[in-house]
Amino acid sequence: MVAVNRREVLATGGIVAAATVVAACSSGGTGMTGEPAESPLATADAGQASPTGALAAIADIPVGGGVVVPEPPIVIVQPTEGAILGYTAVCPHQGCLVSEVVDNQIICPCHQSYFSAEDGAVISGPATTGLASADVQIDGDFVVLG
Ligand code: FES
Repeated sequence: MVAVNRREVLATGGIVAAATVVAACSSGGTGMTGEPAESPLATADAGQASPTGALAAIADIPVGGGVVVPEPPIVIVQPTEGAILGYTAVCPHQGCLVSEVVDNQIICPCHQSYFSAEDGAVISGPATTGLASADVQIDGDFVVLG
């Protein structure tokens, strides 16, 4: 897994943060309630058009939290200020989508597996393997596929 400091990304013209997450029990919410949000891009600056393929606005990804994008199924997290990471949102246990990120823990609601937002590793099962990294990168104020 590679953590990329946002300032470094911006200074170098943009690039990647990779990480993986597996989850499957749905939702495209803010990661705090498990309820789907209308759009992960909901709080994006109204004056700035989102780039093609934008997954979420950086402003919507709280430090210690995350955003679950249902399609493609990716959970985007910010474990520390400026470090944007992505993981598959499909849980390796039985394929549910993870639903939320709380205190740097990515939670699968189906059987309560917990994964680290820092590296996708299993914190507690029943899942026995962590979430796979998903390549994401910063494009302006947005997170896009890498
Ligand atoms: Fe995620 Fe079972 S499918 S814990």
